[in-house]
Amino acid sequence: MRETGEQITYLTAYDYLTAKYVERAGIDMILVGDSVGNVVHGYGSTIPVSMDEMVSACRAVRKGAPETFIIGDMPFMSYQTSDEQAVENAGRLYKEAGVDCVKLEGFTDAAVSRVRAITEAGMLVMGHIGLTPQLGAQLGGNKAQGKSAEAAVRLVRAAEKLEKAGACSLVVECVPSAVCEAIHDHISIPVLGIGSGSHADGQLMIYADMLGLFDDFTPKFVKKYANVGETMLQAFKSFAEDVHARRFPEEGIHTYKMSEDEIRSMNEALRKAE
Ligand code: KIV
Repeated sequence: MRETGEQITYLTAYDYLTAKYVERAGIDMILVGDSVGNVVHGYGSTIPVSMDEMVSACRAVRKGAPETFIIGDMPFMSYQTSDEQAVENAGRLYKEAGVDCVKLEGFTDAAVSRVRAITEAGMLVMGHIGLTPQLGAQLGGNKAQGKSAEAAVRLVRAAEKLEKAGACSLVVECVPSAVCEAIHDHISIPVLGIGSGSHADGQLMIYADMLGLFDDFTPKFVKKYANVGETMLQAFKSFAEDVHARRFPEEGIHTYKMSEDEIRSMNEALRKAE
């Protein structure tokens, strides 16, 4: 798709049901991001997310989207310690959850080495540079990256190193459009942008942001395509009103029938038992 210039669509999902709808919509790729920590578990960051939680989420998404290319995110401390640890945990996402690719954050020498090791072990790995939330503290918070010429050049050089190490594609998060364009022009693997303008080969969005479901915080780059949160709220309130007013369940519509004979027999049996 990069070669033909057709834009790649890329959404997150963390569960069976959402994955089903994403696949039905014909979205090209699903990221089971460690943003599962914010969206599903309410951790407030991605740091506490465990490998077991990632395996479980990836497995559910695989079931919901059997035909879609799925990327499993490597959570904090699942690859930082050594190449061996990275290969082992990438292997878990492949073997236990059936992902097609893994993703890891960063561009230090260690991150480049992990990309090489996972690739050499026979798996696909996607890099992730720019705003990398696992390193939020070192980046001075979750804010746009690469805004100075020096920082931008560092990102372009990092992208080149990651490609050379074997990364099959690259997520570029929250950098100025010009920086994403420069990165794109210096490498040949697909560049997937999130909050990085329109010069990427495709666009990634967190599904709960674009549906108006997640409202703890909303980054500037999010476009809301629906207000599912409001729809849910109204539906939950209507349910409560119906139950309180005894409008739900409605006899004959939401209930199961028993024949008059069986009711009579049941009542006789209960009377006898008393
Ligand atoms: O976890 C995630 O959803 C991500 C994207 C924001 C790139 O890593």
